[in-house]
Amino acid sequence: QVFVCSVGSTTRGRLIQQLPRALIIGVRKGGTRALLEMLNLHPAVVKASQEVHFFDNDQNYVRGVSWYRHRMPFSLRQQTTIEKSPAYFTTEKVPERVFRMDPSIRLLLIVREPTTRAVSDYTQVLEGKQRKNKTYRRFETLAIDSSSLEVNPKYKAVWTSIYTKHLERWLEFFPVEQFHIVDGDRLISEPLSELQLVERFLRLPPRISQDDLYFNSTRGFYCLRVSLHYRKCLAGSKGRAHPHVNATVLEKLQHFFHPFNQKFYQITGRTFSWP
Ligand code: A3P
Repeated sequence: QVFVCSVGSTTRGRLIQQLPRALIIGVRKGGTRALLEMLNLHPAVVKASQEVHFFDNDQNYVRGVSWYRHRMPFSLRQQTTIEKSPAYFTTEKVPERVFRMDPSIRLLLIVREPTTRAVSDYTQVLEGKQRKNKTYRRFETLAIDSSSLEVNPKYKAVWTSIYTKHLERWLEFFPVEQFHIVDGDRLISEPLSELQLVERFLRLPPRISQDDLYFNSTRGFYCLRVSLHYRKCLAGSKGRAHPHVNATVLEKLQHFFHPFNQKFYQITGRTFSWP
C-alpha cells in the first residue's frame, strides 16, 4: 500500500511518503523510543519522529489513511517506515483498525519486567504532577487495594503490565508470527543483539553494528552514533530514577503478574527471566 506523493528526488530515486510497514505498538515505558531511534540507525529504516496516535485517537482516525500517510517522513520506495505510538497496544479499537489498513503489517512489541514497568509508568505520571506543583499518591496506595490488601488490577499502571490480556485482543486479528517481541531489559543492557533480532524479523539486511552505539557512563545508558560528527542520547525523561517502593508491595506485584507472564511466554514463544 504505497501511495506516491509529489516531492523531490535524490540520486537514488524519488522520495515519497509511505504508510508504515511496521508499527511499534507498545508497551508504554517498555523502551519504545530507544527501539525506534536505534532502528532508525539502519539505512533502510525511516521513522515517524512524533507519536501519531492515528489508530487510538478517534479524532485522528476519522481523518483517514491519507492523513496518516502525510504524517510520515519522505523516503525511498525500498525503505521501511516505522511509527510508534505505545497507546496502540492497550486501546481496544486499535487492532481491528490496523488490520483494516494493512493485514500484513509487522508488529513490534517491546516489554519489560512488568513490575518495573509499572513503577516506571507511575514515575512518569508523578513527574507530570510535580511539574504542575501537584501532589500525587504513593505508588503503594495506588497499586494495592486498601480494603482487600490485594493488588488493584484496575490501576492503569498495573493493568498495562498484564501483557497477555492486551496481546490476546491483537491475536483476534493477527497471527502470532506477525509479532516480534523485543526484550526491553536487554535493549538497555545489550542493545545490539536485540536490534539484530528485529532486523531479521523485518527482513532487513544486517546493518546496525556495535560502532553505531556507545555506552555513556554519565547517563548509564547506550547512546547513538548517528553519524561521524553527531552523537545523541535519549532525552532526560528516558531513564529516570524511580522512587523507592516498599519491598512487600513489589513482591505482591511480582506474584500477581506471574501467571499472566507464564501465559505470555506460552503465546509468544519468548521466555523472560522475570520473577
Ligand atoms: P525509565 O525511565 O523507567 O528508566 P519509553 O520510551 O517506552 O517511554 O520507555 C522509557 C524507558 O526506556 C526508560 O524507562 C529506560 O529504562 C528505557 N531505555 C531503554 N534504552 C534506553 C536508552 N538507551 N536510553 C534511555 N532510556 C532507555
